[in-house]
Amino acid sequence: MIRSVVRGSGAALPRRIMKNADFEGMVETSDEWIVQRTGIRQRHVAADDETTASLGEAAARAALHSAGLTPADIDLIVLATSTPNNTFPATAVEIQNRLGMHHGFAFDMQAVCSGFVYAVATADLYIRGGLAKRVLVIGSETFSRILDWNDRSTCVLFGDGAGALVLEAGEGTGTIADRGVLAASLRSDGVHKEKLFVDGGPSTTGTVGHLRMEGREVFKHAVGMITDVIEATFSQAGITADDLDWFVPHQANKRIIDASAKKLGIAEQKVVVTVDLHGNTSAASVPLALSVAVADGRIKKGDLVLLEAMGGGFTWGAVLVRW
Ligand code: UT7
Repeated sequence: MIRSVVRGSGAALPRRIMKNADFEGMVETSDEWIVQRTGIRQRHVAADDETTASLGEAAARAALHSAGLTPADIDLIVLATSTPNNTFPATAVEIQNRLGMHHGFAFDMQAVCSGFVYAVATADLYIRGGLAKRVLVIGSETFSRILDWNDRSTCVLFGDGAGALVLEAGEGTGTIADRGVLAASLRSDGVHKEKLFVDGGPSTTGTVGHLRMEGREVFKHAVGMITDVIEATFSQAGITADDLDWFVPHQANKRIIDASAKKLGIAEQKVVVTVDLHGNTSAASVPLALSVAVADGRIKKGDLVLLEAMGGGFTWGAVLVRW
């Protein structure tokens, strides 16, 4: 059977780093509160010349380089983002053009923080369905542009960045010993819209709007939703937490990550945590975390890796990949 195998990965971050202490003169907060409640120590913030398209392009080029490929080898780009450069065209098409790619096709996926997990699951279906052989899956965000910088309950939490994978059609035997995407579970439920949303849009206010979140409410649901969708993914693949080599969760809050891993029985040393470095970068958080763990040699060929995310909508999901 056809499997969607990871051939390369890459990432890109804005030049400017903003430390927790940099907020202390802007809103009533402290480094101590932010670290204790979230685990975040710093985040990258895009300058005017750094956009979702430019960061996505840089991450895509890094992933292509690590795969030993060029844009000519790619037939599809799936970009997960909630902060597109423009309402339309899709920022994926802009990245396609920036890469000098005038063949194949490209589109955006909007599932907020779960976007990258949705995009990997979608790219896998395009590959297994025979519509594409090599796919660039990108998560790129510039949440700094939609933050209310006067709202301490949200502005300290988010950051900008991008990460990408190259997925390639490969042969598998149909067992979980195969390399590639092995299982996926996706969920959404719009009843939770008001807990995490942006208060503007083309069809309502005609403006971009700002992010609004009832953090405590999101927190309350997060661990249960994450563990449910992961248990569904485990049972699809016929594995348990002990079989995993690495758990790469959405990086929103260290307390959510710790509680989810504990509930699932995933050992602490298998959990990749980068929320301290990047903050919550929405759809970029999982591929950014992957890029760190690949670069430092933790994630290696043949490792069983679980990706997970939960965010606005609510949306949530998990993907199991043998690297
Ligand atoms: O990526 C999508 C998914 N998003 C998430 O997973 C986020 C989920 N939520 C969270 O991570 C946490 O709920 C937060 C980090 C947002 C907040 O942590 P919390 O422990 O739930 O705090 P809280 O909202 O219950 O607020 C506690 C106190 C409040 O003061 P009072 O009402 O107790 O007097 C807040 O006003 O902390 C206050 N507060 C702050 N204090 C200092 C809120 N933000 C700040 C701040 N600095 N930046």
